[in-house]
Amino acid sequence: MKTLGIETSCDETAIAIYDSHEGLVGESIHSQIKMHTQYGGVVPELASRDHCSKIVNVMKEALGDYPIECIDQIAYTSGPGLLGALLIGESFAQGLSSALNVPLIPINHLEGHLMSPMMEFPEIKMPFLCLLISGGHSMIVDVKDKGSYQIIGQSQDDAVGEAFDKVAKLLDLPYPGGPYIEKIAISGDPETYDFPRPMVHSDNLDMSLSGLKTSVLYTVQKIDNLDEKVKSNIAASFQKAVSDLLIAKTTKAIKTTNRKDLIIAGGVAANKFIRNEFKNLEEDLNIKVYYPDLKYCGDNAAMIAFVGSKMSPKNKGYRTSKVRARWPLDELKQ
Ligand code: KG4
Ligand code: ZN
Repeated sequence: MKTLGIETSCDETAIAIYDSHEGLVGESIHSQIKMHTQYGGVVPELASRDHCSKIVNVMKEALGDYPIECIDQIAYTSGPGLLGALLIGESFAQGLSSALNVPLIPINHLEGHLMSPMMEFPEIKMPFLCLLISGGHSMIVDVKDKGSYQIIGQSQDDAVGEAFDKVAKLLDLPYPGGPYIEKIAISGDPETYDFPRPMVHSDNLDMSLSGLKTSVLYTVQKIDNLDEKVKSNIAASFQKAVSDLLIAKTTKAIKTTNRKDLIIAGGVAANKFIRNEFKNLEEDLNIKVYYPDLKYCGDNAAMIAFVGSKMSPKNKGYRTSKVRARWPLDELKQ
């Protein structure tokens, strides 16, 4: 089965081809980050226009010499995400499926993230636990079986990536701030500031990030000279607080569910400090921790093509829109 995957839910235009026997045989991704940086965040209208102008070339690059007639089905992200951006991907996918006369499969973007490490590590078997940490979502998901996902804990306010981006803004770092925080934190001392770990002791698996961000704000407001050293110390202390919070909640989730495999996915999973801290859990909890390759932590189409390759579409095509700006993982039945 050869599946062409399309991802346009936010600020990446991406297309990939996944062959059930050979694995990933082509991919291309165009990031809009440079365009949005000047506005300090993603501008939805600009994102949609850019998807429109780049998607054909991204597909040509992904295909390379690969004959398009060999594609058996089209999988595309139909939510959650920016409505206008999703519609561009969907229209393109509909046109392609109609031209090639192949089935069309709408895919949940979050399912793509949480399945992505299975592309690289076929030994991962369900059930497993997934900590999904991105710019829009922070949740602990009990992956019981294909299509059967239970969110057992989540952020009550800001997503983890969002908190990284907001703290980066306070430190005058560019958007998206996660990678910049990670970079300057390397030379900082994580013990300098004792930022709160909100909800760390609550008896459920939920967490909160906005209090932590506000605490960084108050700290920054009290500092007269926000020089590079001070910024590094704030970044390192903030990153440590986030990591401690995630580790405490995930540990509790592992003990509650008794799962033996843990997947960390989503954009923030690219953070090497957080990756290392989680790796240390393996021995203590007798579990195995997996991360996607760095290039598959952020948004990409390989994960969408991969999830699509595991599905058998019931219909040949859709002529109605399946796009959903909000599409919780536990409402996955299509
Ligand atoms: O999954 P993603 O590419 O997009 C969605 O939100 O779906 O995640 C983007 C988020 C941004 O908030 C970005 O700042 C964060 O992931 N991020 C990081 C790192 N790389 C990306 N956060 C912390 N450390 C990183 N190295
Ligand atoms: Zn994402």
